[in-house]
Amino acid sequence: MIKILRSAMSILAESMTIPPAQVPRVPIPPNGVDYRGKIVLAPMVRSGELPSRLLALKYGADLVWGPETIDRSIIGATRRVNARNGTIEFTRMPSNGGRVDHASRESVIYRIDPVREKGKLVFQMGTACPDLAVQAAKTVAGDVWGIDVNSGCPKPFSTSGGMGAALLRTPDKLVSILEALVREVGEPYKIGISVKIRILETPELTEALVSRLVRTGITGLTVHCRTTPMRPRERAIRHQLRMVADVCHKAGVACVMNGDVTSRDHGLKLMEEFGVDGAMIAVAAEANSSCFRSEADGGLAPWRDVVYEYLKFCIESENRFGNTKYLLNMLIPGKKKEFGEAKQSKTYTDVCRRLKFDDLIPLALQADEILELTHRQELGEGQTSSKAIQHAKENNESARAAGGGSTRPPKSNLSAAHNVGPIRTSSFPQPAKADKPAFEQVTTVDPSIPAAEHAQQPSVAA
Ligand SMILES: Cc1cc2nc3c(=O)[nH]c(=O)nc-3n(C[C@H](O)[C@H](O)[C@H](O)COP(=O)(O)O)c2cc1C
Repeated sequence: MIKILRSAMSILAESMTIPPAQVPRVPIPPNGVDYRGKIVLAPMVRSGELPSRLLALKYGADLVWGPETIDRSIIGATRRVNARNGTIEFTRMPSNGGRVDHASRESVIYRIDPVREKGKLVFQMGTACPDLAVQAAKTVAGDVWGIDVNSGCPKPFSTSGGMGAALLRTPDKLVSILEALVREVGEPYKIGISVKIRILETPELTEALVSRLVRTGITGLTVHCRTTPMRPRERAIRHQLRMVADVCHKAGVACVMNGDVTSRDHGLKLMEEFGVDGAMIAVAAEANSSCFRSEADGGLAPWRDVVYEYLKFCIESENRFGNTKYLLNMLIPGKKKEFGEAKQSKTYTDVCRRLKFDDLIPLALQADEILELTHRQELGEGQTSSKAIQHAKENNESARAAGGGSTRPPKSNLSAAHNVGPIRTSSFPQPAKADKPAFEQVTTVDPSIPAAEHAQQPSVAA
């Protein structure tokens, strides 16, 4: 009798197990990304600006997350194409005592390379409100391939506003944000919506939360394997990972793991071990982005090679010099004499000379001119500038005036000056700009700090 019962139960169990081929999958929208099988660059405030993302892609990252950008700081930003390098810049004028005459003082909130980041860039936002989340997402939805909600940042500036890890304690709010994004941005723009969480104190709590999140229509979930109180230096804990992956998979959602993944090969091994779909790397990539290159393809590159490539991307992208120096400090090993030298540098030309990257100097000179690094030193604040700068600015002004008007996607080179519309137009329910609120509604942005830091000036490890 017992035997019969056992075999009946095992037949029943077998019939309830879904064969791998039939595991449900939330469909990946036509303009979205599939996170499965991917080793990706983590969102990192300061360290995740465009040049770092290009560096990660160069060394083999499959997808890149941009730094967390607070919803209010991108809402109402002006979208323009930088006529010199083809990048898309979301900018705004800071409040500067009513002076609006100084184009160079515009703050670039977010910068995208429409060619090299095509199909690979996920925009991450900090938000605590479905309406603001939707407005912010619509601002960039035509130019990115996914929108991610940061639900893991433990810093008080974030949690006190109900954002980041605070959302883990307010699942109703987090669910309503994700549902609004799926409905009002994901569906019309045909891109995926995802969320990045931390684990909670017990597997039961995490399971209850993840079970709700995967039913919102999201296509991916990243789990940072640390609890909110855990510091970045504490080792990631992975005992909840398989359970999170299982919950995701039952709902057809891809699960990306994060926490102490050190390289592509390591990530692939962990994916297999824990049954997750992808792996996300943060600090290892901050230290040397060639961690995305597998051993078979050469593995970690020497720091000088990485720094050279990084500087080239910074110069091409006209990256804010303060941000460039910040990451140079991460990329150059502290004991090297070049570390101190790079720290002393005040311009791109200076840093290229000190590091003996002579072939970059002509480009560095131009970047210094455009960013007014030399002129600020020579002329003092508020004064401009050579004919070259004026000319460059005029070019940009006319590109901006035409911004959004083109119906063509950019060509496959960096000279996208004439392709100034959103990257994708085919799936647009309406122009991305239509929903933008009046400029005055937006919080003021200090041009001296990068995008996401406007709301989070202390350094962040979400
Ligand atoms: C400098 C820095 C900035 C970070 N900024 C963000 C962020 O903007 N959004 C986010 O979700 N996580 C952020 N994080 C957390 C990372 O994305 C990642 O979850 C964490 O570092 C764990 O991964 P790791 O062990 O590979 O470093 C940041 C981490 C660092 C080191």
